Amino acid sequence: MKNYNKINRVLVTGGAGFLGSHLTDKLLARGDEVVCVDNLFTGSKRNIEHLLKNPRFEFVRHDVTFPLYIEVDQIYNLACPASPVHYQYDPVQTTKTSVHGAINMLGLAKRIGARILQASTSEVYGDPSVHPQTEDYWGNVNPIGIRSCYDEGKRCAETLFFDYHRQHALEIKVMRIFNTYGPRMHPNDGRVVSNFIVQALQGEDITIFGDGQQTRSFCYVDDLITGMVSFMDSPADFVGPVNIGNPSEFTMLELASMVLQLVGGKSQLVFRPLPSDDPRQRQPDISLAKTKLAWQPTVSLENGLKKTISYFDVLLGSR
Ligand SMILES: NC(=O)c1ccc[n+]([C@@H]2O[C@H](COP(=O)([O-])OP(=O)(O)OC[C@H]3O[C@@H](n4cnc5c(N)ncnc54)[C@H](O)[C@@H]3O)[C@@H](O)[C@H]2O)c1
Repeated sequence: MKNYNKINRVLVTGGAGFLGSHLTDKLLARGDEVVCVDNLFTGSKRNIEHLLKNPRFEFVRHDVTFPLYIEVDQIYNLACPASPVHYQYDPVQTTKTSVHGAINMLGLAKRIGARILQASTSEVYGDPSVHPQTEDYWGNVNPIGIRSCYDEGKRCAETLFFDYHRQHALEIKVMRIFNTYGPRMHPNDGRVVSNFIVQALQGEDITIFGDGQQTRSFCYVDDLITGMVSFMDSPADFVGPVNIGNPSEFTMLELASMVLQLVGGKSQLVFRPLPSDDPRQRQPDISLAKTKLAWQPTVSLENGLKKTISYFDVLLGSR
């Protein structure tokens, strides 16, 4: 019998970025139509060029700080530079992207009755005094520091999402993403995984900020996107916020030595002062995601690093 099920039409803002392009791949693979909206500030056409001939894919160059009129069933709001070097380049624009971008996308969702997911961040916890971080922790954020344009912008976006939900009964999903890595990360974005890999592949010294004992947990992109899509498709009464990330914790020194071992070469470790407001420790408590979404990460750091290294190897033509 012919299937008359309606095709799911999805808007992905920030769809030409690292996470957005992987999300788009996954949605197209399951049969959705995807409209990718991006101003290409940190994203790139290279991330979506394999999709340009797909009839269910459409790219729109647009800045989310301006209103957008489009008909879709679901909106994933990912547009925002995510790495400190990029979001600190034009901090006023970063806050505008989070806040005006959220207002514009929430307004659109309200008008067309679409469900909307916000790509929030573990940065809403700031330099946490609770470890690991659970969703009910309110955070420890400096409102006037150099990271505040990102952290406070994302916090304000969460407020807007919950107010649209309470005030206008909008179907929202607020997801707090922890450090994620994988192919299509920007090679010069200053994030630790891409930094270490690029430095190792180019035979340069590996830069460690501080003493290298600060820890992070790293989630491979495929795991993250699986969690994101199952959250979007979860029952309407589960709105979050929900942490999605990998709770396995590594020190920067452990990460550097794993990268060195996988890449080989003769890079040395060099130590530099810690930038201001850099959190000492960050680790998600993912009990809520496990219970509500039956989700947990499956890719080990070693396997994820191998795939990421292969990507950068080709991109940089390093060997
Ligand atoms: N990657 C992570 O580890 C991580 C962690 C926490 C949260 N997040 C969030 O996930 C989302 C995606 O992050 P990413 O790692 O893919 O970063 P990214 O920089 O690769 O992607 C962001 C995309 O948004 C686009 N963009 C930026 N400003 C825009 C604007 N005003 N209008 C339209 N497009 C705009 C960029 O061009 C880019 O394609 C971001 O909202 C980020 O805050 C990511």
